[in-house]
Amino acid sequence: MTKTGAIGVFDSGIGGLTVLRALLKTLPDESFVYFGDTARVPYGNKSAETVLRFSRENVQFLMDEGVKFVVVACNTASAEAVPTLQREFPVPIVGVIEPGVRAAVKMSKAHHIGVIGTAGTIRSGAYQRGIEDLDPQARVIALACPLFVPLVEEGWIDTPITETIASTYLQDYRKEGIDVLVLGCTHYPLLHDVIGRVLGPRVALVDSAVETANVVRERLEADGLLSDGGEPHLSIYLSDIAPNFREVGERILGRPIPDVRLLTV
Ligand code: DGL
Repeated sequence: MTKTGAIGVFDSGIGGLTVLRALLKTLPDESFVYFGDTARVPYGNKSAETVLRFSRENVQFLMDEGVKFVVVACNTASAEAVPTLQREFPVPIVGVIEPGVRAAVKMSKAHHIGVIGTAGTIRSGAYQRGIEDLDPQARVIALACPLFVPLVEEGWIDTPITETIASTYLQDYRKEGIDVLVLGCTHYPLLHDVIGRVLGPRVALVDSAVETANVVRERLEADGLLSDGGEPHLSIYLSDIAPNFREVGERILGRPIPDVRLLTV
């Protein structure tokens, strides 16, 4: 691997732009190739076998683009495919689970941690196992919140309905006395304020996107792969370009999206 290659990032769709956003902030001198599998989203309710198959194809595409490093931005793909991808591909691959786990264990004093994500992420048990392995004293309660993704894509970020749905999902967490909640899905960082309000100030929220960007920087440094010059560029590929993708995508990325190329899968 050379320092000059871009960092490849893939997600099931455009939610992973939250991870790209954190990466662009943490690693402003790096180039990125982002692939969002918008033709096959969502991954969160598909079988683990299908998520692995799609993930293999996504990494292969990024490798064909010559990337030096791969970030799996999708929590579902991270939970269900990253260990296999790491064994199969000759490129460093980082998912979002391990960074989220590390941050949660570090932040929790009560050893009582909540995790929310898609049905696939929660069913895989990846966050739960990761937290319990790192902190055998930890008690983890995990919950799938499938309505959060469409709410974010609809732009209903901070509306009374979103708050009602969040309080309904999270009511047990309020009683259980967790002190840390992992936002284990690409879209959930956008609901940070609503979720924070519902749970109150005693519960710290872990944004896996930010934690992952820090881990990627550490890994690039350790492997001697940090870019040493050149104009950074950003390429975005999607497997379907829906009419409203720019509106939704720019909300998630927090900046204008450059030209997007179609990748047929
Ligand atoms: N990107 C997915 C995740 O983080 C959410 C959307 C989906 O279900 O594909 O789990």
